[in-house]
Amino acid sequence: MKDLRKTKKPWPTNKVMEQIYEMKLWGNNNSNFYSGEGSHHPKIIEPYITVVSTFLKSFKQPLVICDLGCGDFNVGKHFIIHVKEYIAIDIVSSLIDFNSKIYNNDNLEFHCLDISKDNLPQADCLIIRQVLQHLSNNEVANILDKLSHYKYIIVTEHIPNGDFIPNKDIIAGQGIRLKNKSGLQIAKAPFYFNVGKEKIMLTQDLEDDKGKIITTLYTNLSID
Ligand SMILES: C[S@@+](CC[C@H](N)C(=O)[O-])C[C@H]1O[C@@H](n2cnc3c(N)ncnc32)[C@H](O)[C@@H]1O
Repeated sequence: MKDLRKTKKPWPTNKVMEQIYEMKLWGNNNSNFYSGEGSHHPKIIEPYITVVSTFLKSFKQPLVICDLGCGDFNVGKHFIIHVKEYIAIDIVSSLIDFNSKIYNNDNLEFHCLDISKDNLPQADCLIIRQVLQHLSNNEVANILDKLSHYKYIIVTEHIPNGDFIPNKDIIAGQGIRLKNKSGLQIAKAPFYFNVGKEKIMLTQDLEDDKGKIITTLYTNLSID
């Protein structure tokens, strides 16, 4: 008899993410779409919005930015005024339709793409906040392979406190590697992501030993 556990294929990531929103698995604030506490709790989002806004405002010529996995856009909406163009991407098409109806700015566009499979738009700066942590190592590797064309990449990841084995594999879903006492560190094996310069922009310690959220700026030194 066939061992079903070995032949069972994981659900496609778009179906998984759609279900998370439909079933409100990241919680509910009476809105049609809710990307979770990490996208809404003032203590979590305000310091992030401050450091990223300061970075974006530091450029004389405003940047074109691309937000990979924009979610309900409760965080991204704060950056629209600081950029030349804002391209926001998510894998959930109903969420992209919803966001497009709510946010109407001349310099803002929403697209439904799977960032691990599809080509990514051109931009000066990428924002990837609390997205990779939900994806399998294979998907993370596919995404990282595409990032060498970008000058600035701002990655935010939730990791455990103390020592841990990085990059344990998971199936894409609602949860993150923290439940397996792991977290993503893209500079380490098996990814070895290195585009030149790496600088931690923000470290946020969460209460009750729930780990920390690290925001890192990668600067590609081979792009002017
Ligand atoms: C936890 S939410 C974070 C949302 C937002 N970045 C924030 O910080 O508020 C993760 C988002 O990534 C999206 N996502 C997951 N995998 C994706 C993929 N392969 N391509 C595009 N978006 C993806 C999900 O649909 C979800 O909206």
